[in-house]
This record gives sequence, C-alpha cells and structure tokens, in this order.
Amino acid sequence: MSISSPVQIRSLQKVGLIVASTIRAMRKAARPGMTTAELDEIGLAYFSQQGARSAPQLTYGFPGSTCISVNEEIAHGVPGSRVLQEGDLINVDVSLEYDGYFADSGASFCLGQSTAEKQRLCETSLNILEKTVASVRSGMHIRSIGKKIQTMATEAGYNVILNLAGHGTGSALHEEPYDILNYEDPRDNRTLEAGSVIAIETFISTGAQFALESDDGWTLTTHDGSYVAQFEHTLIVRNQEPLILTA
Ligand code: CO
Ligand code: CO
Repeated sequence: MSISSPVQIRSLQKVGLIVASTIRAMRKAARPGMTTAELDEIGLAYFSQQGARSAPQLTYGFPGSTCISVNEEIAHGVPGSRVLQEGDLINVDVSLEYDGYFADSGASFCLGQSTAEKQRLCETSLNILEKTVASVRSGMHIRSIGKKIQTMATEAGYNVILNLAGHGTGSALHEEPYDILNYEDPRDNRTLEAGSVIAIETFISTGAQFALESDDGWTLTTHDGSYVAQFEHTLIVRNQEPLILTA
C-alpha cells in the first residue's frame, strides 16, 4: 500500500509492534523438547490476546498461525510434531492483520548451544538486512536492494536464494511491488516511491540457491541440507531513512 495519512502510519505501527513482540515472545519461549506446534501456540496466544490475526491463515489458509522452519527448512514451515533440538537453526516468520492492516517480519536464531557455522550465518543475514533496510530511499531502483543483499552475501562467502523475495504489504499480506529479489535483475526498472509499505527479506544460504516445495505443499527446503537464515522487516519508504514498522 501507499501511505496517505498519519492515521494509517499509526495503524501500521500498531500491527508492526504486535508482530515484533510476538517474534520476541516465541524466541524467548523456544526450548529443546518443545514441538513446533507448541511454539506456534505460544505465538498465537500472544498476538490473539492483542486482537491480531494470522495473515497467512487469513490469506492462504495456511495450516498454522506462524511459519516455523527448522534446519534444512527455509520458509513456510508448518507447525507440527517436529521436536526442537539443542543447536537447531530456527526461523520464525510472523505476519499479522490488525484492524485491516498487515505487517510481516521474520528472524532466524540458534536454539541454545549451536555450531559456529549456524551462528555466523544468522549474524550475517541480520547484518545484511539491517544495512540494506537502512539504505532504502524513495527514488531508488528496487533492483539495487537485491544487488546490496547479494553483494554482501557473496563477500561473506554465502549464496542467496533466488526464488524467494520481499514484497509490498500493508493492506494485504502480499501486494505490489512483488519480487523484491535477493539479487539484481537488470531488466527490473521499477523504483521505490515515498509512502510505499514494503517487506524486505534476506535469504542467506550456505549452499543451495533454490527453495524447493516439500510434500506438505507448504514447507520450502534446501535440496542438499544446506542452511538458510532469513530476516525480514516491514518498513515505509521515505526520502530519508525508512520508518521500520517491525523493529
Ligand atoms: Co514473512
Ligand atoms: Co514476507
């Protein structure tokens, strides 16, 4: 969506805050021995208490309240009977609707003691997201977001996932502009407009460059067991630094 009033900004900040605090609550609650369904329940209890609803459930009939992806799973992991283990790489992606407004955010983290490889992957993906988001300005080419993400990933010795992307959001979970990629598509001449609400997501990979759909029809995984760390923020594009709604 494109912002046209301060009331809309306040409503977006409200849903963004619920999204961010739900992710924090889930991260804090995650324990070895817990199932992903139990972790999802904690998220659901937290955001529904505040009057928000699960955006993927509302929009696509997703069979869960949040997306929880573990280890070789990249995104859209369906909460279920999988038991979390010490050292797991966990991604929690929360997108919510509140009062007709949408925000979307995600974070990857290691459960308890993990490998230096997984830790560095998470730190790098977060760092890339933060630097990329801070550089966003109105008038900028959308492809330059992808260029920044891919350049920093390559410098750190990682790949990016080529078939997952950020997107417009705000009045729906996913809306124009679609395909805010993790690489530079030279044919993409779109520019960012002030007031535009977008979600930028980094998909930083230790190997695989494509996310493959698994048998449940939702969960996206790497084909080779390599790991991906995703971070995501929803923000409002401005002439100066963007307003991050899910910080
Ligand atoms: Co998301
Ligand atoms: Co998203």
